[in-house]
Amino acid sequence: MKIGILGTGHIGKTLVRKLSAAGNEVKVANSRGPDTINEEILVHGARAVTSAEALIDVDVVILSTPLRAIPQIAPLFADVPAGTVVIDTSNYYPGRDGEIAAIKAGQTESEWVAGQLGRPIAKAWNAITSASFAEKGVAAGRPGRIAIPIAADGVREREIATALVDETGLDAVYSGPLSESWCQQPGAPSYCTDLTREELPAALAATDRSRLPKRRDLAIEAIAERVGDSTTNPDSDYAVRLTRVLFM
Ligand SMILES: NC(=O)c1ccc[n+]([C@@H]2O[C@H](COP(=O)([O-])OP(=O)(O)OC[C@H]3O[C@@H](n4cnc5c(N)ncnc54)[C@H](OP(=O)(O)O)[C@@H]3O)[C@@H](O)[C@H]2O)c1
Repeated sequence: MKIGILGTGHIGKTLVRKLSAAGNEVKVANSRGPDTINEEILVHGARAVTSAEALIDVDVVILSTPLRAIPQIAPLFADVPAGTVVIDTSNYYPGRDGEIAAIKAGQTESEWVAGQLGRPIAKAWNAITSASFAEKGVAAGRPGRIAIPIAADGVREREIATALVDETGLDAVYSGPLSESWCQQPGAPSYCTDLTREELPAALAATDRSRLPKRRDLAIEAIAERVGDSTTNPDSDYAVRLTRVLFM
């Protein structure tokens, strides 16, 4: 499959490595240009390109940027064919992304992203920490394989996201349409708690939407206290212990 990835940060770099290692033809871009992309993530044949080039002649685009960058990225989609599947890894953190009135008023993060882009999306890989994602993927069928939720309105988005999540060493559990994707947003029991495909459906069903913002913000405070800044991601052991205590 031909895949364009925007973002080479905590999540994007692992997407590039895993999806190119799995045999996909991957192009990748960040905000600063191809020369700034670390060659270590290109070892399996991915190519560093500009953001505009990453969206040309691909079957799938994966967005792995902060949510606040989506409005700047949206114009790049003007010439992207309707058949190209878009998958977004974003989460909304007001301290990082600024206040987004529509989300605060009740729109799910993924509905907001789809609205900004003016096209359907799938939401995937948003609910696993960067450390677990980099370290814990295993082949399908292995005991204890981590499962992550995916949300989508369209069958094609859902099927392609499911297949690509599998290629990154994880099981995918369909969480429902974008309008219900709050059940995989920050603060939810399914969010970054490293559950299996047997455990994840009950966690999704147990989500109390009204408690998510408070729990999200508590986790951010605890992590900042632990690691000392807002850009370092905690190790997977600490992150999963914390999310299980706060979110489940
Ligand atoms: N970190 C996690 O554990 C985690 C887990 C699941 C989901 N997520 C979500 O996934 C998204 C990415 O998170 P992250 O932690 O990987 O972020 P990050 O480390 O801050 O990396 C963000 C990447 O996006 C790029 N970018 C920003 N604006 C762009 C633009 N206009 N065009 C192209 N690229 C642009 C940045 O480019 P430069 O390198 O040039 O700055 C950077 O490579 C966020 O929405 C986050 O909430 C994060």
